[in-house]
Amino acid sequence: MIVTFSDLLAEADRRGAAVGAFTAYNLEGALAVLRAAEERSDGVILLVSSQAFAARGGPLLVAALRAACERAAVPCCVQLDHAADLTMMEAALDAGVGALMADGSRLPFDGNAELVTAAVRIARRFGAGVEAELGHVAGDEELATAAARGALTDAAEAADFAERTGADCLAVSIGNVHGRYARPPELDWERLADIRRQIALPLSLHGASGLPDADLARAVRAGIRKVNVNTELRERWFEVLAERADALREGAQLLALNEELIGALALVAAAKLELLSSDPP
Ligand code: 13P
Repeated sequence: MIVTFSDLLAEADRRGAAVGAFTAYNLEGALAVLRAAEERSDGVILLVSSQAFAARGGPLLVAALRAACERAAVPCCVQLDHAADLTMMEAALDAGVGALMADGSRLPFDGNAELVTAAVRIARRFGAGVEAELGHVAGDEELATAAARGALTDAAEAADFAERTGADCLAVSIGNVHGRYARPPELDWERLADIRRQIALPLSLHGASGLPDADLARAVRAGIRKVNVNTELRERWFEVLAERADALREGAQLLALNEELIGALALVAAAKLELLSSDPP
C-alpha cells in the first residue's frame, strides 16, 4: 500500500529503526525489494534515479513502481532520487512519485536552501515529501567507481537549513559515498551525534553499499532513519547474469532468468533490511 514519505519515516522512528530505500530500474528490481520487505513486514521506499527518470520511459517506470507499491502488502513510497532540476521534480510528481530528493548539495548553502524551499512548495501541492542533502555525498550514482568522501555536513548549518527549507528529511555526509569506497569507510560518529542534537528532522544515510554491517546497524542506533542502497543491487544483477546466462540461453528462458534475478536481489535487500531493524543480529 502507498503511504506518505513522512509516515514511513515516523513509523521507523517509533521503532528506533530505519526505512530501507532501494533503487529500482525495472519491475523485476522493484518486485525483488518488495518481496524482501513483505517477507519481513517492513515498510520500504523504491528509488528512481534522476538518470532513470530522464531516460526513455522514465514516467512509465514511475507508474510501474507505483502500481507495484499499491499492490504490496507493506507500506511503501516511490521517491525520485537526487534531482537538481525543479521541472524534472514536477514531472516526477505528475508521474506519481510520493517523494523527491531535492539535491542542491553541489550548490553553495543559499542556493541549496533555495532549491529545496522551491521543491517543498511544489511537493506540497501533490501531498509529497522532500529530502534534502547538506554537505556532499561524493561518488557517482550510476557508475560504481571508487570514491573518496565529499564535503561533510556541518551540524550548525543543518539547524538553519532545516528551518529555512521545511524539508522532511536530511541526507548527511559523514564519510559515506555513493558507489564503492576508495578506502575502508570511516564514518564520523561524533559529527552524526552533533547533527542529531541540532535538528529533530529524520536523517538519511546514502551510499550504504560497501558499508560494513556493523556501521549500518550503528548508524541506525545513532538516529539514522532512512538508508539508501543501489550499487550492491546493480552488482548482484550483473553477477547473476554472468553466472546464469549460459545455462538459460538454451531455450531462451527469459522468465526463469527474471525469477533468478528477483530472488537474488531480494536476498541483497533482505540482508540490508535486517540491519536497519531496531533489533539487528
Ligand atoms: P550506493 O550506490 O552506494 O548504495 O548508494 C545509493 C544511494 O545513496 C542512492 O541515493
